[in-house]
Amino acid sequence: MALLKIARMGHPVLRAPAKTVDDPTAPWVRRLVADMIETMEDAGGTGIAAPQVHAAHRIVVFRVGGERLSDLPGDVEQELTILVNPVIEPVGDQRALGWEGCLSVPGLRGVVPRHLRIRYRALGVDGSAIEREAAGFHARVVQHECDHLDGILYPQRMTDHRLLVFVEELQRHPIDLAAFLAGEEGI
Ligand code: NI
Repeated sequence: MALLKIARMGHPVLRAPAKTVDDPTAPWVRRLVADMIETMEDAGGTGIAAPQVHAAHRIVVFRVGGERLSDLPGDVEQELTILVNPVIEPVGDQRALGWEGCLSVPGLRGVVPRHLRIRYRALGVDGSAIEREAAGFHARVVQHECDHLDGILYPQRMTDHRLLVFVEELQRHPIDLAAFLAGEEGI
């Protein structure tokens, strides 16, 4: 296993659509996934997509911890999950705003609208089919990671770029999102 270099916003690999994986059980997929997991854990990320390590293939890995879960059905902790050739389908038309960060956009956080509920399908590295319904933070993580496979970074999904901020400033000057969006934030 090896730590891989993480591509940062501006590198063309992050703008290009990734290629479908013909055989999810191939040895190169297993090696790439092992290195992606090691790289994600070393960097303290929630998820990582193959293009972020300069490998333009439709593979993502993520893990959903308990800290940001909502009480929506489907928003539950997820053990380390590997998705090959994932496909997302929105369930309903509700959207929610929430903070996101990205290993390819270091030091920043942004508020991004995402589908509140989704269904996703993919293959595992053993070739088995994965199908899940997700909501809330779990759904947000999957949408963020799968966007990488289509060359999309979260700032492109943002609708209010006043909410693209440095993590350090956000820690010094926390934003009450509900008050901000209502236009009531004091200065
Ligand atoms: Ni990302």
